[in-house]
Amino acid sequence: MAKTLSEGKDKKDYFIREAVIDDLDIIQKIYAYHVENGLGSFEELPPQSEEVHKRIIQARNLSLPYLVAEKNSSVKGFAYVSPFRNRSAYRYTLEDSVYVAPESVGIGIGSTLLSNLIQKCAALGFRQMIAVIGDSENQASINLHLKHGFSHIGVMPSVGFKFGRWVDSVRMQRPLGQGDQTTPN
Ligand SMILES: CC(C)(COP(=O)(O)OP(=O)(O)OC[C@H]1O[C@@H](n2cnc3c(N)ncnc32)[C@H](O)[C@@H]1OP(=O)(O)O)[C@@H](O)C(=O)NCCC(=O)NCCS
Repeated sequence: MAKTLSEGKDKKDYFIREAVIDDLDIIQKIYAYHVENGLGSFEELPPQSEEVHKRIIQARNLSLPYLVAEKNSSVKGFAYVSPFRNRSAYRYTLEDSVYVAPESVGIGIGSTLLSNLIQKCAALGFRQMIAVIGDSENQASINLHLKHGFSHIGVMPSVGFKFGRWVDSVRMQRPLGQGDQTTPN
């Protein structure tokens, strides 16, 4: 019998772990699907595995989490953070990215990835997380972030042009740990 949405969410027949180099090709495929079919990313040409490799290594070198969700021995989604901006005063602020394989959306994988990411980044001492979401109509990503305590902080209207139309960039933000209630150590 086909698994219902709630069964999938309740049972959690997947688990979260750090990405390893063997995951590279499937991460590249999942991201390529969303680049080619959606507005969540403003990239238009999917990066090849070498570029995805560089991005994983960048996270590793900065000791930042790069997570995957594994189900039935196969990666079904990934999530990572990168510095929001490189200038030094931004050093307590991260930007998150979450992508789920098209056949595995709607069963809680994105939510579990994001909650793990938030937890890990708070434990590392970061204080703010920003989501930069392609498209004001990207309800899946906007609702996912709302569910995890992000607030809308603004919309940059029509800053992208993809699939023959202007696309907004939605900004959402949530504090991590003590946020701005204390100064960092
Ligand atoms: C956004 C995305 C990561 C969500 O992942 P997912 O595994 O399908 O999401 P989940 O099943 O964990 O759902 C978590 C919450 O997201 C929201 N959500 C997910 N899919 C939704 C949809 N199609 N419409 C509206 N809200 C949706 C809901 O609030 C949901 O919580 P609920 O089930 O309690 O209502 C996934 O749709 C995706 O990869 N999208 C394309 C890429 C993208 O835009 N990534 C974000 C860039 S930062």
